[in-house]
Amino acid sequence: MLFADWKQHFETGNKGVIGKNIAALKRFTQKARDFLARPNHSSQRIISKVLSAASQRMGNPKAYGHPAHLTMEISSACQLRCPLCPIGNDSLTRKPQSMSMETYKTVVDNIGDYLYHINLNGMGEPTLNKHIEEMIVYAKKKDIYVDLYTNFQLQDQKMIEGLITSKLDAVLIAVDGATKESYEHYRVGGEFEVILENIRFLVEARKRLQSKTPEINIQFINFDYNHSELTQMKELVRSLGADNLYVKRPFLFWGSDDKEKDHNYIPKQEENNLSLYQADDSGDVSWVGTQKKMCELLWSSAVVLADGSISPCCFDYDGKVVFGNVNETPFRKIWNNSKYQRFRRQNKKDWKSIPLCHDDFEGGCPNMFMQPEDWLIKFN
Ligand SMILES: C[S@@+](CC[C@H](N)C(=O)[O-])C[C@H]1O[C@@H](n2cnc3c(N)ncnc32)[C@H](O)[C@@H]1O
Ligand code: SF4
Ligand code: SF4
Repeated sequence: MLFADWKQHFETGNKGVIGKNIAALKRFTQKARDFLARPNHSSQRIISKVLSAASQRMGNPKAYGHPAHLTMEISSACQLRCPLCPIGNDSLTRKPQSMSMETYKTVVDNIGDYLYHINLNGMGEPTLNKHIEEMIVYAKKKDIYVDLYTNFQLQDQKMIEGLITSKLDAVLIAVDGATKESYEHYRVGGEFEVILENIRFLVEARKRLQSKTPEINIQFINFDYNHSELTQMKELVRSLGADNLYVKRPFLFWGSDDKEKDHNYIPKQEENNLSLYQADDSGDVSWVGTQKKMCELLWSSAVVLADGSISPCCFDYDGKVVFGNVNETPFRKIWNNSKYQRFRRQNKKDWKSIPLCHDDFEGGCPNMFMQPEDWLIKFN
């Protein structure tokens, strides 16, 4: 997802019909503006995107265009243990590994001309892949927008400079606290001092190298225990010289069996609708937001896991639903194979019957309950 797609401020949920329609119109206008502002349009990309959108609108199990967005999990390993992440709660059974340069190139060579955007994530920490700079350069040669999310605990200033010289477009750095205590509460194994020093270095190096990129975004997941630090957080981001602060609403049940522990993370405060969840009087929790009829991501994006497997989305953190492997079959053949088409058909017919889309997330995956641009509030 491009950060530009997340610029919308979240507006309170209890709107009337007119309010909801105005919000939907605003979202549509913003999306259209963001789309037209993208600098990497080409006739191939535009035609492919239009065809994919049309296939999705018609609910056609075959996608006539190629994906516009790809998530490339360049590392499924991580040095931290965040308690609500499948790596932190040990529910990831896949092997921790780095994607090879060969696997990465195979995909970019195969569909790079149609891709608007590559996000170098999945599960795991992208800066643990030692080919990261080469990977960014390779995608940039095809004029693809490249961004990544990171815990930014790396101990390698050369790599930080490499992110700038390789022309990474944007970085989203996870800082879920304005104090050492609250940062290290969730980012278990991380050090507050290290992340601050790395951000300062990135800001300084970008200036020294006279580069406009990457856009430096800080992400703060708004949990119950850190919500009171939001004002401090805005000041911290300003003093560090980063570009934007994105406040993200947390999601739970990400491979976890300990529902009680997870519930404690839900923000209790109501203002700005900062929680994704609502609890009824008996304490049962459900998602905030309107349910969608089908998943639009199946026509516009895909995930390449570290071992080259193709999975529908990031919510399939353990690679349960795999359509093929790019080390054996070119991506373009996998994209419309019988397994992929069957999955699209089933999702359209009854997404609740698919365990990944419904049961694994306590009543539905987050994507089926809200517009992605509603996830974040942005301050700059
Ligand atoms: C699995 S992480 C991989 C990237 C990197 N290791 C990181 O943590 O930034 C993908 C994204 O999920 C975010 N994340 C982690 N725990 C979360 C939670 N409980 N709710 C929402 N987002 C979360 C991370 O901060 C990151 O932006
Ligand atoms: S740093 Fe990212 S990948 Fe690692 S445990 Fe935390 S959320 Fe998961
Ligand atoms: S889990 Fe969610 S995002 Fe993934 S395919 Fe199912 S509905 Fe789409």
